[in-house]
Amino acid sequence: MSEKQSINFLRGVPAEEVLSRLIPLAAEGYEKVIRRHGTDVLQYGHFTGFKPLRELIAGWHHIDPERVIVGNGGLEVISLFFKSLPRESVVIVEEATYDRVALDAQCYGHRLIGVKLTPQGVDLGQFKEVVSNNAVAAFYGIPFHQNPTAINYTADNRRAVERACREHNILCVWDICYQPLRYDGKANDSIEVSEWGPILASSFTKTVSPGTKCGYIIVPKDYVGHFSAVIANTRINPNLPTQAFIADFIESGRYDESVKYLRGFYKPRMDALNTALSTHFPGAFPVPITGGFFAPLTLSNISKDKEAAFIEAAKEAGVGIAAAWDAVPANCLEETRRKGLFVRLTFPAFEPERIQWGMSRLKETAERFG
Ligand SMILES: Cc1ncc(COP(=O)(O)O)c(C=O)c1O
Repeated sequence: MSEKQSINFLRGVPAEEVLSRLIPLAAEGYEKVIRRHGTDVLQYGHFTGFKPLRELIAGWHHIDPERVIVGNGGLEVISLFFKSLPRESVVIVEEATYDRVALDAQCYGHRLIGVKLTPQGVDLGQFKEVVSNNAVAAFYGIPFHQNPTAINYTADNRRAVERACREHNILCVWDICYQPLRYDGKANDSIEVSEWGPILASSFTKTVSPGTKCGYIIVPKDYVGHFSAVIANTRINPNLPTQAFIADFIESGRYDESVKYLRGFYKPRMDALNTALSTHFPGAFPVPITGGFFAPLTLSNISKDKEAAFIEAAKEAGVGIAAAWDAVPANCLEETRRKGLFVRLTFPAFEPERIQWGMSRLKETAERFG
């Protein structure tokens, strides 16, 4: 690969090949549903989401469709959830979380408390201590192929978190958007939803397409009324043609086919990043990647004073990276910083050779910094 090559590890997006493959299916699908549902999807309505899609999702999770709210993407429904909490609530998040969620929660005045992660999931001792000593309103966690740490929680860890939340009357939110996207040949289990919760949030961004923008959240029955009012006052109805398209995509069996295809397509890319990480940066990441879109890297030799120069040098070498400090809640920042520069890498959009090339360039650049 020539010196002019470059890679931008910040681009956590689906591969172009994946989206190109969707073009005829989306063109056909949108036309079909607009002809089929007509003004029902062109008019105001279905404030909590297109009813047939809510019913399909409810079937996946074995719950009443009333509890399913489908919106314009995962981030939107999570944001609406944060908006539905009293202002200045205390929210527990992981020691590194999805940065946009963290920033958004703070827009509503919420105070984030980060808890440590282990390769099994949340550090339960610390979690219990935090819930005992603070009036916590909610917990937000990403249990499958966590963004950005790549950690996959064990079922026992998830259940222990749910129990602790229940005991302390804390709304437990699992963002399961990477649950179907496992590439190591195994399948993730599913999370059981009961009357009380947990709340599940998910998205079709990475399984269908980001441009179609569709995500959902499942809330306890007694939260539906309050939540629906927040939604109706924010954006009235969601994008209904998209939701009708996704419902048809699922019903026709194409969604399942597409997820199966993605698992095969992204595997060599994931393998390339795993190999590059263990070859060039052993011990600088918590677990091998098994799915999802992201992996973290801690560069212990890049201290705060060298950070800007290192990122610039990487850029000159053709490698786009950035510090991932926005992903780290304030109470965890000092300790994370002490370990070195924390970055988030992504792999699905790049061919394996490019990933290998980019990671060796990153290694060479890091070595120059001593
Ligand atoms: C954990 C997590 N949740 C939600 C989203 C955003 O989903 P959407 O594009 O549907 O808003 C992302 C996107 O990267 C994500 O990583």
